[in-house]
Amino acid sequence: MTNIIASTALKARQLTEEEIHEIEHEKTHYPYAQAVGLEALKIVQKYQGWVSDESLLAVSEYLDIPPDDLEGVATFFNMIFRRPVGKNVILLCDSVACWMLGCDDLKAHITSTLGIDYGETTEDDMFTLIPVPCLGDCDKAPSMMVGRELYRNLTNEKIDQIIAGYKAKA
Ligand code: FES
Repeated sequence: MTNIIASTALKARQLTEEEIHEIEHEKTHYPYAQAVGLEALKIVQKYQGWVSDESLLAVSEYLDIPPDDLEGVATFFNMIFRRPVGKNVILLCDSVACWMLGCDDLKAHITSTLGIDYGETTEDDMFTLIPVPCLGDCDKAPSMMVGRELYRNLTNEKIDQIIAGYKAKA
């Protein structure tokens, strides 16, 4: 793996009070601070929307975890966003059950409706589309999540309604 962080002159940003407070709370659930890496990245993402290199370095320094180790955690866990994302992240399952029940067609529909492919964000920053492995909801496939909300038995029409709902809330 290329060590992007070490190859640049990046500096850790200051964690906010809220972030530190929540990370400290997580630490009470684990036997040692280094085990909190993933939870700390999730906390940073909750407040910042994504995990920049500067944020990753901040967590690395705060928990005394080597940046490369933390990067490995972030890469392995596909719900940690290492690039800026839109306000609503559409996580479309593309594993077997969803694939058998037409997730490719749904993806094509989302792409033509929003004008974005996987990994892209709409120009108004409203939506980012990301493929994810099984969401554990195979009996209600095809499924996707938008943020923390799970949507099942999807059809193109349902997706239109879901997208319209998020646009109406904007
Ligand atoms: S394969 Fe899509 S939820 Fe399991």
